[in-house]
Amino acid sequence: MLRVGIAGLGFMGMIHYLSYQKVRGAKVAAICEQTRKRLSGDWRDIKGNFGPAGEQMDLSGIATYDDLDAMLENPEIDMVDITLPPALHADIACKALRKGKHVFCEKPMALKLSDCSRMIAAAQKAKRQLLVGHVLPLLPEYAWARKVIDDGRYGKLLGGSFRRVISDPAWLKHYWKAEVVGGPMLDLHIHDAHLIRLLFGMPIAVSTTGRSRGQLAEYWSTQFRFKKNLAVTATSGTIDQQGRPFDHGFEIHLEKATLLFQFAVIGDDGKYLCPPTLLDHRGKTKSAKMPAGDPMMNAFQAELKAVTESVRAGKKNPLLGGNLARDAIAICQAETKSLLQKKTITIK
Ligand SMILES: NC(=O)c1ccc[n+]([C@@H]2O[C@H](COP(=O)([O-])OP(=O)(O)OC[C@H]3O[C@@H](n4cnc5c(N)ncnc54)[C@H](O)[C@@H]3O)[C@@H](O)[C@H]2O)c1
Repeated sequence: MLRVGIAGLGFMGMIHYLSYQKVRGAKVAAICEQTRKRLSGDWRDIKGNFGPAGEQMDLSGIATYDDLDAMLENPEIDMVDITLPPALHADIACKALRKGKHVFCEKPMALKLSDCSRMIAAAQKAKRQLLVGHVLPLLPEYAWARKVIDDGRYGKLLGGSFRRVISDPAWLKHYWKAEVVGGPMLDLHIHDAHLIRLLFGMPIAVSTTGRSRGQLAEYWSTQFRFKKNLAVTATSGTIDQQGRPFDHGFEIHLEKATLLFQFAVIGDDGKYLCPPTLLDHRGKTKSAKMPAGDPMMNAFQAELKAVTESVRAGKKNPLLGGNLARDAIAICQAETKSLLQKKTITIK
């Protein structure tokens, strides 16, 4: 049994806690949170942009802490699951690794590349796994696209466009502070940056235009340049109006197929603006069948199952690896630089 200590019981901590209840081979043994009422199970004020509302929980049998260092001393914990604000990821990850714990850390891995490198080095030194929670490739629609691409029957990838735009998340504290969260580039677009890195490899340059808020990107479009002849673009960021808390999608081009998908929450209503659809080279369109249930909750369950299997088997799942997550940060940083400096930025 993989015994997990959750560090930070906010929105994501709650989603992870609920997901672990459905994963065989893992159990939540400890929780550390600085908001004390959550340690007594009162999660009613937790808010996010998907998943169930917070409830009063029964945490009997779970060790609770309001101090991160104290939780790390608990010998009954095998892995620390970090769902803290991004600025805190690197330090707690390195400390946990030094204490001999495995680490699963929510995206973004950290706010600085030097912190990512520090985390990777700490894991290597401790001979423990460091996994980073990039859930997007496991979302049913994205998992479908990856499967079609990997199948090979539709030829090579030619490129794609990716979209992720939300209403300004007024409920998230410090969202627009570069030193705490990093705004929509590192909070939101990091998902597509990671996916683009996964599907197409590392871009050699980016060219980004759009709006900024101070030194943070607010709403933008990026063209990614690769050594290979690929046409890849992404649009991401926030809009000022509330009422569309979530919107994401893609159009992926292969030699013999185009894959389409767009989902949005408008008001309280989550719906496909375009269901996952394959256009083939004979002009036929085929809708893909998606699994039943809440796609986000399904994806987190799949992610934590993959994490549990990775650690228990002692075989790191490459999809959740630190190097890919670090590359995603490097891509995002280059995009912000390109937007602010109004020029193409080469990625070394
Ligand atoms: N994969 C996804 O789709 C997804 C979605 C949302 C958030 N996230 C990520 O999850 C992480 C957390 O985001 P969130 O939305 O849950 O934020 P949140 O603010 O709701 O939760 C963070 C929690 O950490 C607690 N905390 C802060 N400092 C602490 C400390 N020193 N000791 C103990 N507790 C402390 C806060 O009180 C809060 O409850 C971020 O990295 C975010 O990017 C991922």
